[in-house]
Amino acid sequence: MKQKITVVGAGNVGATTAQRICEKELADVVLLDIIEGVPQGKSLDLVEASPVEKHDAFVTGTNNYEDTRDSDVVIITAGIPRKPGMSRDDLLKTNAKIIKNVTMQICKYSPEATLIIVSNPLDAMCHVAYNVSGFPKNRVLGMAGVLDSSRMRAFIAMELDVSIENTTAFVLGGHGDTMVPLPRYSTVAGIPITELMLPDRIDAICKRTASGGGEIVSLLKTGSAFYAPASSAVEMAKAIIRDKKQILPCAVLLEGEYGINDLFIGVPVKLGKNGMEEIIQINLTEQEQGALNHSADSVRELVKTLADWGF
Ligand code: NAI
Ligand code: 2OP
Repeated sequence: MKQKITVVGAGNVGATTAQRICEKELADVVLLDIIEGVPQGKSLDLVEASPVEKHDAFVTGTNNYEDTRDSDVVIITAGIPRKPGMSRDDLLKTNAKIIKNVTMQICKYSPEATLIIVSNPLDAMCHVAYNVSGFPKNRVLGMAGVLDSSRMRAFIAMELDVSIENTTAFVLGGHGDTMVPLPRYSTVAGIPITELMLPDRIDAICKRTASGGGEIVSLLKTGSAFYAPASSAVEMAKAIIRDKKQILPCAVLLEGEYGINDLFIGVPVKLGKNGMEEIIQINLTEQEQGALNHSADSVRELVKTLADWGF
């Protein structure tokens, strides 16, 4: 039986996510948005591309949550994106209301789904979805680390003029300026980049990674990145739908792991059919742990603000 993935939000990230899912023939897709006509139009356009792209995944556009019934995975991209000069945190209240509303509807029709949250501020939105859904923590995940690591891999490949296929990178922490790129665990053909680059070049790559979202916003001027974010959300969905047991950095609820409690933040996890199946604990130096704690503090502040607002 074909599996079903719902994508909520038919904007830049959502529509590109739907396109990548069907072109990989991962599942049938339901694309839902609050704006009438947009999800229907984009879905029909994708279906009309399918004979040329040669896939049999069907895409349904809708404004009605009944169509999302019994989804296996739900990717939530609904919300407003960052505009120039706006931080991810400025989005907090608007997107929290949207995520609350969307999650309530999704849970009603797909109580067994795994949720992948994309909307920003990412880690804080995971808390909203987790609290509203009442789902177990293994079925509420946030997409950020895959994107941030992919950006870092792209920068490493450009710097060393090597294939991106040779690169790996690990970025932990919250999806914001305090994220924690880990050069020691980032490699080219298995060789840590600390052996291949001078410290100032590694530092420059880490800084560019941490401000990677802002770099795109300042170029686009009317929105934020969507090609790499969509690829990253689909990578997570694929690991779940195909039960790959793939280790990817995702925002998950920590309950003591890495010395952090009751907080969604990015760490390496194993993804399979049950969603998050294991949190992978890696050894951090004192400095890396300090940076992760600092990142956790900035997420905690947002979560506290949300709690004060009743989310
Ligand atoms: P966009 O503006 O192109 O699309 C957002 C869509 O959400 C719009 O079509 C809008 O009509 C829809 N929407 C708004 N309220 C809704 C509701 N209540 N129900 C259903 N749909 C609703 O924005 P874009 O570029 O697709 O970004 C979406 C979100 O993803 C933003 O919050 C952005 O900051 C975030 N993002 C997060 C990334 C990450 O790494 N976690 C990366 C890129 C974007
Ligand atoms: C990004 O990193 C906007 O969070 C989004 O591109």
